[in-house]
Amino acid sequence: MQELSSLVERALAEVAACAGLAALDEARVRWLGKKGTLTEQLKSLGSLPAAERPAAGLRINDAKTRVQAAIEARREVLTREEIERTLAAGKIDVSLPGRGEGRGGLHPVTKARLRIEALFQRAGFEVATGPEIEDDFHNFEALNFPLNHPARAMHDTFYFPDGKLLRTHTSPVQIRAMLERGAPLAVVAPGRVYRCDSDMTHSPMFHQIEGLKVGEAVSFANMKAMLHGFLQAFFEQDLAMRLRPSYFPFTEPSAEVDMSCVFCGGKGCRTCKHTGWLEIAGCGMVHPNVLMASGIDAERYSGYAFGMGIDRLTMLRYGVNDLRLFFENDLRFLEQFRTL
Ligand code: FA5
Ligand code: MG
Repeated sequence: MQELSSLVERALAEVAACAGLAALDEARVRWLGKKGTLTEQLKSLGSLPAAERPAAGLRINDAKTRVQAAIEARREVLTREEIERTLAAGKIDVSLPGRGEGRGGLHPVTKARLRIEALFQRAGFEVATGPEIEDDFHNFEALNFPLNHPARAMHDTFYFPDGKLLRTHTSPVQIRAMLERGAPLAVVAPGRVYRCDSDMTHSPMFHQIEGLKVGEAVSFANMKAMLHGFLQAFFEQDLAMRLRPSYFPFTEPSAEVDMSCVFCGGKGCRTCKHTGWLEIAGCGMVHPNVLMASGIDAERYSGYAFGMGIDRLTMLRYGVNDLRLFFENDLRFLEQFRTL
């Protein structure tokens, strides 16, 4: 009896001293496990005289129950402490300012494109699109570049092994739009185009926006007015624009659109190759062969078309003198356009 109650006292003291759940479990095994100290006591009942066994059994079971209860109580305390420690370690101060919350912005070329689209939409043009992987028919043949025509060499074309190609301009969308929509129509078609070409004002991937207006009395004068009006609106200033006679197989007559260089005010610099002008577009009256290839009655309808370099327009609007900066995606460069 004396021995049992001192055992229980020792067990309770050990349980109370357990600082963690693992230590507590070890104590449980030590006292109540298969070979535990109190379990051994029960086993030793057999050696007592039969008359003493029931009372001794009761006392030992009572001792086991007390130790068991102490272990459960201690387990509860230790578990709660552990939860509290975990919570405290992962505590979040919701009043701290967040990290990496910088707002993104649109790429300057995208901004310029959206602005150009909106200006033409206001003038009654719809936005059309076409694939970047084109076939020879839409990129060249229907645009009046017959096979082996020397003008094909003006475009340094990337070809795929199957004869498809990366479109070299947005003009193939003219063909798609006319075949799909018929006349009359007025569309602009922005998108990426590809040429094997690279320097300060040329990049192998760049953006163009095509314009096409077909109707019953569409004239060259209409085109000139539309282009000049667009430039004034896009740059929000009175700008010099000139049309230079040029050649495209798909327009006749054809012209190139230059605007005065914004970097040198027309005096001549590296960016404008000392001419005072920057070429921003090609244009002309849609060639009758192109109208016919697109199923449009060339006797009844006429049209004008133009293809502008969006990247060039973006350079000029934001005063960037090297086109390649737009494609390096250096955040220090791009961040400057976030609020523009
Ligand atoms: C054309 O691509 C014709 N399809 C444009 C056209 C459309 C003419 C409709 C008539 C009717 P061109 O190769 O000149 O033309 O390119 C048009 C514009 O794209 C150029 O004025 C220039 O602003 C831009 N551009 C051309 N090559 C590059 C390049 N490598 N990098 C950046 N911009 C370029
Ligand atoms: Mg050109």
